[in-house]
Amino acid sequence: MYHIISIRDLERKDLDYLLDRAREFETGNCRSCRLEDKLAALLFFEPSTRTRMSFATAMARLGGRSISVDSVEASSIVKGETLADTIRVVSGYADAIVLRHPKEGAARLASEFATVPVINAGDGAGQHPSQTLLDLYTIRQSMPVDGIDVGLLGDLRYGRTAHSLALALSLYGVTLHTIAPGGLEMPANITLELRERGMEVIEHENVEEVIRDLDVLYVTRIQRERFPDSASFYNVASSYRITPDLLSGVRDNLMILHPLPRAGEIDPAVDNTPYARYFEQAKNGVPVRMALLHEVMK
Ligand code: CP
Repeated sequence: MYHIISIRDLERKDLDYLLDRAREFETGNCRSCRLEDKLAALLFFEPSTRTRMSFATAMARLGGRSISVDSVEASSIVKGETLADTIRVVSGYADAIVLRHPKEGAARLASEFATVPVINAGDGAGQHPSQTLLDLYTIRQSMPVDGIDVGLLGDLRYGRTAHSLALALSLYGVTLHTIAPGGLEMPANITLELRERGMEVIEHENVEEVIRDLDVLYVTRIQRERFPDSASFYNVASSYRITPDLLSGVRDNLMILHPLPRAGEIDPAVDNTPYARYFEQAKNGVPVRMALLHEVMK
């Protein structure tokens, strides 16, 4: 394992190994696992709260350090520097690069120019593999992932967390229920790929028709920043919302996850129900990213 670019590059044994390692970091069972002489470069060319801060926290908790660029405007990309040159240069400063970029494929491209490991922290509508690991980690805290029913609700077209998670779940015999507003369905090539991997994928018109059959409901926001114009965003904005009323009759073990940030698709009143697990999920970003950083830099 060197670069972490796409869930497609990982087998189930790799995912299970990283999740087991994350558990060791969370429980303090890997006290000798340190990165004291290591430096991670966090290159975030799109906004982020959780991913950037949890990678920085993970480095600090491992005794390492991080340097960061937090926007395109704060970098020499505004002067016309290419991503390839930026990556070549930063490879000379740091022991690993964590990259968030608005263009799908940017992390793969970066890995071709880097001389240190690259971790994809989200590339446009492509992939977000470290998010998927913490999603799986959160599910595993409550139930085995194998054979469960997972609903993916929201913007499945542009939502990179949904793409990564669906591909990972296909390695666990999960039945996937997709629920998306018109025009924001899972891209056909990904649905085909999931089915070719043997996954049962069932498409639903609305969340009401399936919520009582789910073990996990994974809600995503509509990715407004990826829409070509504001009119097409407003056509689908506010088209779904999870409320306490919707949760009557759901399975006792239902877990509602969300990669966050949310933008109105989960009523804050749901936070007080036993099903809401999204803040715990965000917290799990630290041990999971400790495991990832340690793995690529040890
Ligand atoms: N889940 C996630 O990627 O959040 P941020 O955009 O805040 O990093």
